[in-house]
Amino acid sequence: MNEVRPLVLIVDDNATNIDLLVNTLKTEYRLGIAKRGVNALEYAEKYRPDLILLDIMMPEMDGYEVCTRLKNNPLTESIPLIFITAMSETINKTKGFTLGAVDYITKPFHAAEVIARVQAHLAMALMKSELRSENALLEQMVQKKTVEIQDMLQGIISSMALMVEIRDPYTAGHQQRVAQLACAIAAKMGLAKEKIEGLRIAALLHDVGKIRIPVSILNRTGQLLNAEMEVIKVHPQISFEILKNIPFPWPCARMVLEHHERLDGTGYPHGLHGDEILLESKILAVADVTEAKSSFRPYRPAQGIESALSELRQHRGTLYDCDAVDACLLLYASETFQFDLPQQEVIRRSSSPRSHPHEQIE
Ligand SMILES: [Fe+2]
Ligand SMILES: [Fe+2]
Repeated sequence: MNEVRPLVLIVDDNATNIDLLVNTLKTEYRLGIAKRGVNALEYAEKYRPDLILLDIMMPEMDGYEVCTRLKNNPLTESIPLIFITAMSETINKTKGFTLGAVDYITKPFHAAEVIARVQAHLAMALMKSELRSENALLEQMVQKKTVEIQDMLQGIISSMALMVEIRDPYTAGHQQRVAQLACAIAAKMGLAKEKIEGLRIAALLHDVGKIRIPVSILNRTGQLLNAEMEVIKVHPQISFEILKNIPFPWPCARMVLEHHERLDGTGYPHGLHGDEILLESKILAVADVTEAKSSFRPYRPAQGIESALSELRQHRGTLYDCDAVDACLLLYASETFQFDLPQQEVIRRSSSPRSHPHEQIE
């Protein structure tokens, strides 16, 4: 029973005052006593009392100094502290509050007042402590839920990407590799981490609209007919339709819609120019064309990274954003970038490659 009673530390150099306070509080509380400031500090750190009654006028170390040291120690800073003072000047009381005390009791003591103030501040301290525990618990729950939701979102994105790649094994892994490169380019360009996350998601899903394109066209070798090319060109719009109602905090749907737009207006589906295209879309375009050109496709062998980079250099500022191209070239020049996911095994199915300027179908 005794163990659950709050512990109150009385700090006073005057034996009469100590006796008075002990007699007033001993039935309700466990009590600690310190006659000097230095003993009070040691006691507080060792036993962490629930409340401290602290005399101001003491030899060697006065109550203000003890209070300051208690508040500067992480182990004792949250212990509520009530000053005991014979002084009635406002300036002394104010100083006590400024240093972090929660209240003061003026000598000579009135037992009822001492009990009332001690009770009130212990109750407040208990409430604060419970609130802190509840907040910590809530924070933990929010963090756990956030991780669960992020994992779920990642799972849904991977499944959506797989739905389209499963129909088109020759571009399996394309979206993941594009996402990795797009994020590296964006980081090199100094985009904020938050923006890069939006770009990563858009890149992982940028070709999801190919779900609408017949497999016979996706995997066909040889030259595509104009009509077939027109069918393929629908995929950014379909990707947009699939993503537009998902409340991402980033314009992911617009990024996928614009990933085949080109600076000079020769892209599709809307023939946008320069600043009409979102920066993230321009980065996605550079990553897309770099990955696609360096990988194998049913209609042509892998052309290698050098061919992809040469395409970027040739059309820097006309088709592709200068900053995104420069960042991509720097990544490869400094050899700091390498795809995590290996490219699809090269399966040459046709000796009659079809031609697609600037990887228009990827
Ligand atoms: Fe595409
Ligand atoms: Fe693509």
